Amino acid sequence: MNMKVNLAGVELKNPVMTASGTFGSGAEYGEMVDLNGLGAVVTKGVANVPWPGNPTPRIAETYGGMINAIGLQNPGIEVFAKRDIPFLRQYDTKIIVNVCGRTTEDYVEVVERLGDEPVDMLEINISCPNVKEGGIAFGQDPKAVEAITREVKKHAKQPVIMKLSPNVTDITVMAKAAEAGGADVISLINTLTGMKIDINRRTFAVANKTGGLSGPAVKPVAVRMVYQAANAVKIPIIGMGGIMNAEDALEFILAGATAVSVGTANFHNPYATAEVVSGIENYMKKYNIEDINELVGAVR
Ligand SMILES: Cc1cc2nc3c(=O)[nH]c(=O)nc-3n(C[C@H](O)[C@H](O)[C@H](O)COP(=O)(O)O)c2cc1C
Repeated sequence: MNMKVNLAGVELKNPVMTASGTFGSGAEYGEMVDLNGLGAVVTKGVANVPWPGNPTPRIAETYGGMINAIGLQNPGIEVFAKRDIPFLRQYDTKIIVNVCGRTTEDYVEVVERLGDEPVDMLEINISCPNVKEGGIAFGQDPKAVEAITREVKKHAKQPVIMKLSPNVTDITVMAKAAEAGGADVISLINTLTGMKIDINRRTFAVANKTGGLSGPAVKPVAVRMVYQAANAVKIPIIGMGGIMNAEDALEFILAGATAVSVGTANFHNPYATAEVVSGIENYMKKYNIEDINELVGAVR
């Protein structure tokens, strides 16, 4: 039985990875989950310099999910490169570094700094506001998506995954823009912009007023977007959004995802990633599936 998948020439032992920002850089969860058993670990977003993140409160529970407005708090690329990469390199898993920035130059600086580091792929989070363009998120303008993809690709030594925002009218336009810019892979979905109001405090549940909705509540939207993107581009897709178990992961794979990321589920069940791997294996045995790749995009 084969569970290996290939993402732009990088071979993963299975299609299950962590979702950025929900697994730290692996150290805390590594005490509970054998990181050697995962296809890849995707790190929390890292910028060129340390970011303090947003004021608290920064997370709130919602029906079937959560809202977060962490604001991409991170220690900056220097600390990350010294502390987190050597930790992850001890394991036999692929390392995917999630990159954030405020300007194209910010992203390029991190991508160049990572060029000689032992990381396997880069995931570029383009849901951050582009302050140079007056706060319009990169990920909501197809011209900006194509331009930043092209610029990052010019400087990147590792294959590039562009992480798309679901807060758009037509995801296929964004997927095609990333492909046109030279993306090797696309990943989706990031969180959906939401709001929760605390009726007792009579204010917003998170200090940022709005936050990103994730968890099982977003899964049907995510599966739909993965299906649409898979039918719009030729490059591989990493699917995510509300995956709690193997059944959820298989929906994404059947819709067209070559690999999947498990995010919010880790907060609820720290063993979720490992359980998704063994659950997919059981499903393949049950239905006599020889190769996981037979399932990718099998529902049309
Ligand atoms: C607390 C939290 C922090 C996150 N941080 C990042 C991040 O740093 N970079 C990024 O690209 N996505 C980040 N995400 C988005 C997730 O990687 C994922 O795309 C999204 O939550 C949907 O998957 P899920 O429903 O399985 O969580 C974060 C999500 C959560 C809940």
